[in-house]
Amino acid sequence: MADAPLLSVQGLAVHYGPIQAVKEISLGLHAGQITALVGANGAGKSTTLMALSGLLRKAAGTVLFEGRDITRLPPHKIVAAGVMQVAEGRATLGTLTVRENLELGAYTRRDGAAARAQDLARIYALFPRLQERERGLAGNLSGGEQQMLAIGRALMARPRLLLLDEPSMGLAPLVVQEIFRTLVHINRQGLTIFLVEQNVRQALKIAHRGYVLETGRIVLEGSGPALLAEPRVQAAYLGG
Ligand SMILES: Nc1ncnc2c1ncn2[C@@H]1O[C@H](COP(=O)(O)OP(=O)(O)O)[C@@H](O)[C@H]1O
Ligand SMILES: [Mg+2]
Repeated sequence: MADAPLLSVQGLAVHYGPIQAVKEISLGLHAGQITALVGANGAGKSTTLMALSGLLRKAAGTVLFEGRDITRLPPHKIVAAGVMQVAEGRATLGTLTVRENLELGAYTRRDGAAARAQDLARIYALFPRLQERERGLAGNLSGGEQQMLAIGRALMARPRLLLLDEPSMGLAPLVVQEIFRTLVHINRQGLTIFLVEQNVRQALKIAHRGYVLETGRIVLEGSGPALLAEPRVQAAYLGG
């Protein structure tokens, strides 16, 4: 099954009490690709991600990762399986140094110090700014640098699938472009990425495939370029 998605979701539903935030959605994330899930505030994007990470209970549906059923696994086992969600930018530990934050990212790994040092070097190559500030407190970083640190910390766990919830949130346009360029770069190194974004234009620009979520339902799907050109997407999200 060379064409089977790395992760596939069938009929996922998530409720908050009586509120049906996600209504039986299905999607597939293909290995080596960036897949975007875009939609307005309140559409159910974060709820979808938290359910995939095991942080919210699934009312219905199945999640397969590398062919294995991970629907009912607790969050730490989903991480151990290779699915890592990037903490929201401000969730870096401000009273620890940049380097300590990165080293914490490797806590689930059982391999030796040499492998971790190698990964640290790789992350510093990706984000030279983090190396310059490795002894500084994470709390003193700019918003964009904190987002880079959050991504770097997630990469230290050597995930096979990286989940991101609105990495562009609260960042200036140039910083958003820098973050997204980095996502493209790590994707080209082979990492599969699931990008949840309200910044529809930027997300679809870098996505191989995209899904549009409206009030808990997927209303459109297609390649990133096809969705960008779609009149409904332009009217609703791109001011076109
Ligand atoms: N903890 C919660 N309790 C009740 N309703 C919630 C909770 N979190 C989110 N919701 C509701 O679920 C829907 C989807 O929210 P969310 O997944 O955060 O959307 P998005 O991330 O796309 O902005 C919204 O209607 C929101 O108000
Ligand atoms: Mg959200």
